[in-house]
Amino acid sequence: MKIEVLEKVPEKISGVFFVVSEDSYEKDVKAFSAAEKKQILGVMESEIFTGRKGESLALTGLNKDGKAFFVVGSGKKEEGGLLRNAAGVAASVAKKSKFADFAIVLPTGEDPALAISGAVLGNYNFKIGDTSEDFLVKKCVIVSGKKFSKDAVEKEVSLAESTNFVRDLVNTPPSLMNPDILAEEAKKLEKISKKVKVKILGEKDMGKLKMGSLLGVGQGSDIESKLIVLEYMGGKKGDDVEALVGKGVCFDSGGYNVKPTGHIEDMKSDMGGAATVLGAFRFLAETSPEKNVVGVIGAVENMVSGNAYKPGDVITAMNGKTIEVTNTDAEGRLVLADALYYTATKFKPAVIFDFATLTGACIAALGTEISGVMGNDKKAMDRVKKAADVSGEGVWELPITDLFREKTKGTISDLQNWTAGVSAGSSMGGAFLEHFVEETPWVHFDIAGTAYQGKYGNEFTPKGATGVMMRTIRELLK
Ligand code: BES
Ligand code: ZN
Ligand code: ZN
Repeated sequence: MKIEVLEKVPEKISGVFFVVSEDSYEKDVKAFSAAEKKQILGVMESEIFTGRKGESLALTGLNKDGKAFFVVGSGKKEEGGLLRNAAGVAASVAKKSKFADFAIVLPTGEDPALAISGAVLGNYNFKIGDTSEDFLVKKCVIVSGKKFSKDAVEKEVSLAESTNFVRDLVNTPPSLMNPDILAEEAKKLEKISKKVKVKILGEKDMGKLKMGSLLGVGQGSDIESKLIVLEYMGGKKGDDVEALVGKGVCFDSGGYNVKPTGHIEDMKSDMGGAATVLGAFRFLAETSPEKNVVGVIGAVENMVSGNAYKPGDVITAMNGKTIEVTNTDAEGRLVLADALYYTATKFKPAVIFDFATLTGACIAALGTEISGVMGNDKKAMDRVKKAADVSGEGVWELPITDLFREKTKGTISDLQNWTAGVSAGSSMGGAFLEHFVEETPWVHFDIAGTAYQGKYGNEFTPKGATGVMMRTIRELLK
């Protein structure tokens, strides 16, 4: 969608959405005409519309020149970030009404950034087939008195569109999104910028590197497992390198510990971490910051077949550690084990952030709005918490303690990937991964609950893939 930031509502436009906040609606927004002001004050005073978050109302008295007028609520000022919600509501009303274009009129002095973000994120659909409706709005005008550079608009649009790209990858059915296709999607990013280089390692290459852990998970699939390695070198040679690592399980059947009905349906989303890494690289490629970032994705399918790994198998990871597969459904940590160790030893990054739909336990602990974070370094963790504070995406630190570390030890092997009777599943996942990062400062993001919303969305996120953590990554890499 094309975005423009203007000072006035254009003459020709299908829908105009006035953003009104709940607590202190303005009586004198410059962009409003006298008739508009009268109408808006009228509904506000009658309390038909109060400016609450998520609220929208068509103003029938104003419709003229083919324009439809609406008010959308942005909630209370101190709740912050709500302009994104209001713009998201405006975009989804415009989308449902099949408007060719729409304008969002911001309260005076409000920064257009949040509105741009909400508008692009709200104007999202994922539909397959000729019979499915797939209408998107082509253009959005943000009406704001506040100066905003063209460059800043472009960056904001790129971030939101990269988030929609993540959503597309995750929403795609598993027959159309496998390790091969994920690798192709990564390769395509090279076309955006010369600063992006993508290398794909196949099973033979990974065999040479002795990645028995990742390969063990993928061996039951007819599709070859891949290690996708991305480099964005926008900084100087010799500058610090920062790493993003993603879990790319393109379908998680659970393996022989097969997932039951009720748990298996959304498992195309188990490559949400990998998609996030690709989204971040799309954003880097488009916005060209002076940074050096590498990305590593372990892309596999966790399937059941005559060749699949079995509960009781012992596999050997790239770092030489032996792992008993006590549960084939705890496959994400096995994939990440080799991806993390490869990242730590090949690139010697200053920090690693990994993104993974790792544990159902994280959903039980933190629900669908807050991602679990854990790690081995206070400075890196503080950086994550600060970034998430700015982005407005919820994170909550979960502990990795010596007790959890102890419980990752195996009986016939160095480690086991699952330990019966320990219910702190997310922390156990974190404690397992810690064995593979060497001394690298590292934060693990468990996005199992937040990457995919099977039941409901929010003002700017339709049901399905969310693209969560893209905004936090932007802050992290600033
Ligand atoms: N992919 C799942 C985690 C998951 C669950 C993601 C629900 C999104 C929604 C992961 O591979 C898994 O199956 N984890 C198991 C681990 C257990 C066997 C230790 C879990 O959480 O139940
Ligand atoms: Zn699993
Ligand atoms: Zn999984």
